[in-house]
Amino acid sequence: MKLHSWIKTLFYKAGYSVKKIRHAPRKAAADAKQRTTAVDVMQLLHRTNPYDGFDFRPFPLDSHGWGGQSPAFRELIARKRPRLIFEVGTWKGASALEMAAACRDLGLATQIVCVDTWLGALEFWNDQNDPERYLALQLRHGYPSVYYQFLANVCHGGFQDRIVPFPQTASTAALWFRAHGIKAELIYVDASHEEEDVYHDLASYWEILDAGGILFGDDYGWDGVRLAVERFAEQEGRRVSFVADKWLLTREA
Ligand SMILES: C[S@@+](CC[C@H](N)C(=O)[O-])C[C@H]1O[C@@H](n2cnc3c(N)ncnc32)[C@H](O)[C@@H]1O
Repeated sequence: MKLHSWIKTLFYKAGYSVKKIRHAPRKAAADAKQRTTAVDVMQLLHRTNPYDGFDFRPFPLDSHGWGGQSPAFRELIARKRPRLIFEVGTWKGASALEMAAACRDLGLATQIVCVDTWLGALEFWNDQNDPERYLALQLRHGYPSVYYQFLANVCHGGFQDRIVPFPQTASTAALWFRAHGIKAELIYVDASHEEEDVYHDLASYWEILDAGGILFGDDYGWDGVRLAVERFAEQEGRRVSFVADKWLLTREA
């Protein structure tokens, strides 16, 4: 292997996907600890606030989802009192709204960054008559528009200052957090339920989980989720524990 491609490989393994090796991400990564506690992800991610000028009135509140009302959210937020939460898989925002309400009630100034393509997971495209998935994608000219229902739900809840939309794939968003040296104390994983996808999400978000932080998720009853969580936990020497209906993995402090 040539020297420059060997160096590129090293950088890639350290989290920099580079055509040219730039200094900015490295500097950002060096500030990681500070950023965990002080960063405003909304400003860093969005040049224009996504809620600015958005008229949510045509969208009545509809936060239908899965596993969003679990008592686990309040319990874990009360335990960790996080400054930053990543949610990977948001859909219409049921779980994000629950977490935002818990943070508000506990007097925490937590930001919740919601990572989702808002394009649905595999099971959303399997049955064209499914009112909760395919039809709820609200295809316009073949492209999902459910993102706007999510945005409206956040406005109905009055959580525009807490909930930061990040419309991106789980893996690209993880790279972005990593390149900016941003870690969260709580990370909720509820995106794809296919084993290899879940495993990849666990591996990439574990990297950006703060020391002492908790990675948790939904749907342990799904084979794909359970197999991925068990495989990842064994590989990392972690024990899978549970709060209510959520599985969790805790990082050492
Ligand atoms: C089960 S739903 C999330 C439910 C939500 N947490 C709730 O409270 O109702 C899964 C979501 O993950 C998103 N998703 C699936 N695969 C993804 C990926 N690779 N990257 C980003 N989002 C993804 C889908 O668009 C969908 O909105």
